[in-house]
Amino acid sequence: MKPASLISKLFAAKGKGEFTCPEKDKLPRHIAFIMDGNGRWAKRRGLPRSAGHAAGTEALRELIRTVSDIGIESMSIYAFSTENWNRPEEEVQALMKLITRYFVSEIDELIEKNVHITIMGELDAFPEEQKTALVQAMERTKANTGLKLNIALNYGGRAEIVRAARLLAEKCASGEMKPGDIDMDALSEGMYTAGQPDVDLLIRTGGDERISNFLLWQGWYAELIFEKVFWPDYNKQKLFEDLNIYASRDRRFGRVKAQ
Ligand code: FPP
Repeated sequence: MKPASLISKLFAAKGKGEFTCPEKDKLPRHIAFIMDGNGRWAKRRGLPRSAGHAAGTEALRELIRTVSDIGIESMSIYAFSTENWNRPEEEVQALMKLITRYFVSEIDELIEKNVHITIMGELDAFPEEQKTALVQAMERTKANTGLKLNIALNYGGRAEIVRAARLLAEKCASGEMKPGDIDMDALSEGMYTAGQPDVDLLIRTGGDERISNFLLWQGWYAELIFEKVFWPDYNKQKLFEDLNIYASRDRRFGRVKAQ
């Protein structure tokens, strides 16, 4: 379908408030989410910020199911950045508990859905109980061949690039490779997402329009969608709307459009 007719389809669907999932060949191979707005969602309801994170976890649960069911290859989510440690102790603790509980309670369903979990970030900074739950989640899903779910925890995009550069430097120092062998593919292989496609679509909820140090390497040509809704209100219908917007975009990767 031509972009113009896709756009008119989009408007018609928006009017009726209903969107269907685009065809498989129009879907991104790798979708990423900056799940912002949990705190404001809670504040509007007179609730503590931790209640927003709990509601955000519910939204995430539903979304993972949908993304897995529609057959997208990779999904990356920003759950806890290296900067988030600077939040009030009480909020950090609440988030830690939620994340650990999520992995313990959801792991059987994720295994059943053939989801492969990768944690992106430095795990050593986490309390022992949480670290164990995270390592087990990766261990138990490592042979799975379905959705690749990358969860950024204690993650920073620049730190990830530095880590990849260090891995390559170590290989050069040990004689495993030569500096001249370093190219973009080699650096990609040093990222947490090694072997996965680059990010095609990055969606940020909560109204802010920035990347915030997320997937800087993988998102070089990502299409961006900034949603006004707070993360706990992001749902399947919103996802389908955004996937239709993505399907209508003209991706040129720096080239001129074929006539
Ligand atoms: C940003 O909202 C959100 C976070 C820092 C945490 C995201 C975490 C979850 C959705 C739940 C847990 C994740 C897993 C993997 C189970 P904010 O607090 O910055 O909101 P604000 O901008 O309104 O203050």
